[in-house]
Parts: sequence; C-alpha cells; structure tokens
Amino acid sequence: MHDPARILILYSTTDGHTAEICERIRSVLEQLGHTVRLVSLNDTVQADPGSFDKMVLGASIRYGRHRQQVYDFIARHETTLSKKPAAFFSVNVVARKPHKNQPDINPYMQKFLRQVAWRPDALAVFAGKIDYRAYRFFDRQMIRLIMYMTHGPTRSDTVADFTDWSQVDAFGRVVSAMRKSP
Ligand SMILES: Cc1cc2nc3c(=O)[nH]c(=O)nc-3n(C[C@H](O)[C@H](O)[C@H](O)COP(=O)(O)O)c2cc1C
Repeated sequence: MHDPARILILYSTTDGHTAEICERIRSVLEQLGHTVRLVSLNDTVQADPGSFDKMVLGASIRYGRHRQQVYDFIARHETTLSKKPAAFFSVNVVARKPHKNQPDINPYMQKFLRQVAWRPDALAVFAGKIDYRAYRFFDRQMIRLIMYMTHGPTRSDTVADFTDWSQVDAFGRVVSAMRKSP
C-alpha cells in the first residue's frame, strides 16, 4: 500500500476507448486507497494539475497522430509536469503487435517523446479497439484497408478489443507507486 494520493487522470479520446481504459485505472487506484478525478481533455479548463499529487495523461492515435489538445495541454502545464509525478500512455492498434507493444518500440510513443520536452515518470502503450460498426464510411474503409495490410480483422461488422486489461491493471499499480524521477 502506498500513501493515499489525489490523482488526476486526463484523457483524449474520439470513440471512448481511452476513457474506458482510464476508468479501469481509476478503479485500480481507488481500490488502493487513492482519490481520483477523471477528466476529458476537452474539459481541462476545470482541471488544474497543480492541485493534485500525481497525474496520468492518456491519448489515442487517429491517423498517425495524438490530438493537438494533448500537446497544448503539455505546453500549458510544462512547469507542473516537471515537478509532480506524472505518467503518459498511448492507445493505438499498432500496439496489438508484439514487436510494437512497449513504449521503447512503439512508433507513436517514440514520435511523441521526440515531440515533447516532458519526460513522464511512467509510460505505457495499450492496444486499442476496433469497432467498424461505429465508424463513418470513410473511416471504416480506411481502417479496414490498414487492417488488411497488417493482417488484422477486415469484416465490416468486427468489434475487436485488443487491450490487455491485465496490463492496464499493472499500469494502475505503477501509477500508485510512482514517484518523481530524480
Ligand atoms: C479513424 C481512425 C483512425 C485510426 N488511426 C490509427 C492509426 O493511424 N494508427 C493506429 O495504430 N491506430 C489507429 N486507430 C485505432 C485507434 O487508435 C483505436 O481504435 C483506439 O482504441 C481509439 O481510441 P479512442 O476510442 O479513445 O479514440 C484509428 C482508429 C480510427 C477510428
């Protein structure tokens, strides 16, 4: 058991899967005795990371990019992020591949770390979800094409959750133990 902390979890999502992962992390942290606030990055006006002990930021990939709001948030809170223990995770379907499922070998995480000066105290990459039924025509065809090229599911009614939820639980425990890197 670690000292109870006030933890802010922020997320950037389009279809809600990153929010679901955050809910799971919240549940792990609450079971460990922490107080958690979960906020969409769309609402950050009300969430000042400075008033929390620790922070987690999670963002999904869409067409090769994390959303601009992720970078805007990091730029806005650079000083706080350098002082408080803070974690970052990325959600993408490339991470369903064993050779791309860790922060040091996932291309989106590596690109992210080249783009920001912030060095999170903990990092994770989670494989995301595909739900063709929920996508607009163009998106559905694009993702099916990407899946075809990368040997993933292409049936247009596929719902595939690639997330390893035990990995999410383990990350929750890492956040619980997280300290500021020296
Ligand atoms: C329109 C669209 C584009 C996507 N582009 C990528 C991509 O370029 N690379 C990738 O690995 N995953 C890509 N994904 C997969 C998402 O990262 C995955 O579905 C994730 O679970 C979405 O999380 P969210 O619901 O929180 O936005 C894409 C998904 C959609 C719907």
